[in-house]
Amino acid sequence: MNGIGFNNMKEIILKTDCLCKSYPLDGKEAPVLNNINMEIYKHDFTVIMGNSGAGKSTLLYLLSGMDNLTSGAIYLNNLPIHQLNENKLSFQRKQNIGFVFQQIHLLHNLTVLENIILPGFLLKKKRKRK
Ligand SMILES: Nc1ncnc2c1ncn2[C@@H]1O[C@H](COP(=O)(O)OP(=O)(O)O)[C@@H](O)[C@H]1O
Ligand SMILES: [Mg+2]
Repeated sequence: MNGIGFNNMKEIILKTDCLCKSYPLDGKEAPVLNNINMEIYKHDFTVIMGNSGAGKSTLLYLLSGMDNLTSGAIYLNNLPIHQLNENKLSFQRKQNIGFVFQQIHLLHNLTVLENIILPGFLLKKKRKRK
């Protein structure tokens, strides 16, 4: 299935098809996400809301390529990230994903600014100033 398209002329940058995630619990699989179909559009500001334990963090870990799905598909800029090997997934995370964790994971020997620009530095992006 093609993961990207234009819906009302809005470009889809992130899409899931029948996304499922379960965690092992007492020798069984406990389902957390059941058949999630969603589209995120370029330039939109999208908010995911739900009760505590609803699966918001689980969904974000999957969308950002930090955890593996149980079944279904995730497309980031048309790329089926659920099928990428760890090297390619790691590159996508560096290139296209920014993530602010609930628990802070900053590098303590760097300043806040250095933490923010680190991915760009690793990608050797030129620094733009206004
Ligand atoms: N690593 C894990 N192992 C087992 N169960 C988990 C794990 N992470 C989350 N869960 C369970 O999955 C459900 C959704 O959790 P989570 O995604 O953190 O919800 P939210 O972020 O919406 O509060 C909860 O029932 C939680 O206990
Ligand atoms: Mg959470």
